[in-house]
Amino acid sequence: MRVLSGIQPTGRFHWGNYFGAIKQYIELQYENDGFYFIADLHALTTIRDPAVLRANVRDAALDLLALGLDPSRATLFVQSHIPEVSELYWLLMTGTPMGLLERCVAYKDKMARGIRADAGLFSYPVLMAADILAYDSQCVPVGEDQIQHIEVCRDLAGSFNHHYRDTFVIPAARVLQESAKVPGTDGQKMSKSYDNTLALFEEPKELRKKIMRISTDSRPMEEPKDPDSDDLYQLYSLFATDEQREEVRALYLKGGFGYGEIKKRLADAADVFLEPLRIKRQTLAQDEKLVNNTLEAGAKRAREVASSVLHRAQSACGLRV
Ligand code: ADP
Ligand code: TRP
Repeated sequence: MRVLSGIQPTGRFHWGNYFGAIKQYIELQYENDGFYFIADLHALTTIRDPAVLRANVRDAALDLLALGLDPSRATLFVQSHIPEVSELYWLLMTGTPMGLLERCVAYKDKMARGIRADAGLFSYPVLMAADILAYDSQCVPVGEDQIQHIEVCRDLAGSFNHHYRDTFVIPAARVLQESAKVPGTDGQKMSKSYDNTLALFEEPKELRKKIMRISTDSRPMEEPKDPDSDDLYQLYSLFATDEQREEVRALYLKGGFGYGEIKKRLADAADVFLEPLRIKRQTLAQDEKLVNNTLEAGAKRAREVASSVLHRAQSACGLRV
């Protein structure tokens, strides 16, 4: 099955990105034909510093490779390296009702906050539809926040197929488990926009400091506590073995522990998990050409598919014979 997803290079990936999305993309690469891309065109709606964007794309690629995305199994590429997507975007734009985009949350939220949106943000879901349709994607794993965009994609593909002729494969969303669930350091959902993230490749000492600063309630030491409603326990569970988790769970239920102790355990468990990944990333980063070569090979493979889909769409709407 063709599985496709994109992730924006808007900063260093954090625990929420990994456990909510990247980990699951990587698992899907074994049984499927995975297409994964770094959505630099979408990132242009927020990053307008060329040096930052360039560095972020390289960092994103290195992070994904270090985390286990395997270019011999899945196709890893950069969105803007496939110009066919931008052409397809225009074909889709001409069949997109304004009202459909006015209802999309990214745009609606910005307007509600009194921020003037640009046309790029307004039409963002159409570019996303082009990303998906260009590769005949059947399944699109995304977090809950993106479901609306997949619906838009299905609508646009359906009406194109109906108006012209059957051209696009209609994709299905696959809601990622745990998405929207990893809590940040302040009790809200972990997100770059809330400045409450724990980055995966954070420098270890800095990470430990940030963990020690995670906000907790003012429960007295001796009082028992429900682990399932506690953010620190949720974070610990991401890294702990079953045995470790059960031990800490029992501590919560019994009471008589301090949060400092749990934070220390969390930092230790995270370190055990992250240290081999850090080493792998450092090794990959030493090979100057590796990222470029990988992304070039990925783009070549992706373009083969996208150009044949674009050709199909152009013929359907009369731009070609
Ligand atoms: P951010 O909110 O930090 O800007 P993105 O919106 O770029 O993150 O998210 C990229 C992917 O990571 C999406 O699929 C999203 O669902 C997932 N994700 C982001 N934050 C979390 C979180 N706290 N818990 C689970 N998944 C998350
Ligand atoms: N908009 C998605 C996000 O912010 C990223 C993305 C762009 C994407 N194009 C896509 C995801 C196509 C899935 C399919 O997370």
